[in-house]
Amino acid sequence: MISPLKILAIESSCDETAAALVEDGRTVLSSVVNTQIEEHKLYGGVVPEIASRRHTENICAVVGAALDQASLTLPQVDAVAVTAAPGLIGALLVGVNFAKGLALAAGRPLIPVHHLRGHIAANYIAHPDLEPPFLCLVVSGGHTHIIDVTDYTHFTVIGRTRDDAAGECFDKVARAAGFPYPGGVNMDKVSPDGDPHAFRFPHPKVEGSPFDMSFSGLKTFGVNLVHNAAQRGEPLSRPDLAASFGAAMADILWEKLLYAQQHTGRRTLVVAGGVSANSQLRAKLTRECRARGLTLYLPPLSLCGDNAAMIGSQAYYEFLAGHTAGSSLNAMATMDISRSFEEFC
Ligand code: KG4
Ligand code: ZN
Repeated sequence: MISPLKILAIESSCDETAAALVEDGRTVLSSVVNTQIEEHKLYGGVVPEIASRRHTENICAVVGAALDQASLTLPQVDAVAVTAAPGLIGALLVGVNFAKGLALAAGRPLIPVHHLRGHIAANYIAHPDLEPPFLCLVVSGGHTHIIDVTDYTHFTVIGRTRDDAAGECFDKVARAAGFPYPGGVNMDKVSPDGDPHAFRFPHPKVEGSPFDMSFSGLKTFGVNLVHNAAQRGEPLSRPDLAASFGAAMADILWEKLLYAQQHTGRRTLVVAGGVSANSQLRAKLTRECRARGLTLYLPPLSLCGDNAAMIGSQAYYEFLAGHTAGSSLNAMATMDISRSFEEFC
């Protein structure tokens, strides 16, 4: 019997320093996430320079804890994986250089992983029966994509936001309304107490691009609601704002996903990224998919946000496809999900 492949994975693309040990892409032996949220909360958002410094301080201990919790030592690891793009460049560089050092010291292959491919792979951990092909809605703080996942390492972007990402939009409206950072989560928490029909948010369309989305109008509408109420000295119900905004976002995302489903004919739909934790989005997609007999996979809340287990899962499939990197690997702030790191090395 071939022994399972144990991958040590590292994630440091934003404000979470994370490490995990994953076996054959599907079994998580350990997963450690050190979040910097409390510190960035003081500034109302992630401060890139602070994020990089905290990654540098924490990464040794986080990787050590992940190895300890899996009862493994570095020589017992078969490969080292790391998020190499996209993300905050200074933050990514900490993980990439640490992973390069580990791979060199252990004499093991280095596997670069695209952060969004990792978010999608979170679903492989949670749903052992899930296999490509499927249609995936990726909704995070920096990206909003509808992607046809034809294979574990082949991705075709069908639609994308032309401006703000869904998560960014949640965070900006939340910030204007005085919700603490991270705004999306905190708006979601109060949304069950509000009326989703209290405010009529616009449903922007992108001329000539039926699968593309635009959220800047939605964001501006939300921010203006808050400012106009403040200027008039009128109270604004934060639960009503949260519920109405969340409902509009869920409606728009579902409308685009359904359109892409009809276009591609895929019967399996998957959601990934931080915003997949949103309760209104989860409820809407669950309801609509059930009504149409479509199979829907949602990540558990524990795997929606940034973590290294999802990077270790995707790394397994990248490794099987021969996608490893040498010591010249660099981090990239932006990179299309359909591209491979080999093109840049
Ligand atoms: O995927 P993620 O953890 O980081 C990126 O790769 O960007 O996504 C973070 C984003 C933030 O904008 C955060 O506010 C949003 O996901 N988010 C939520 C919820 N949980 C996280 N947005 C709405 N409702 C939530 N429950
Ligand atoms: Zn993420």
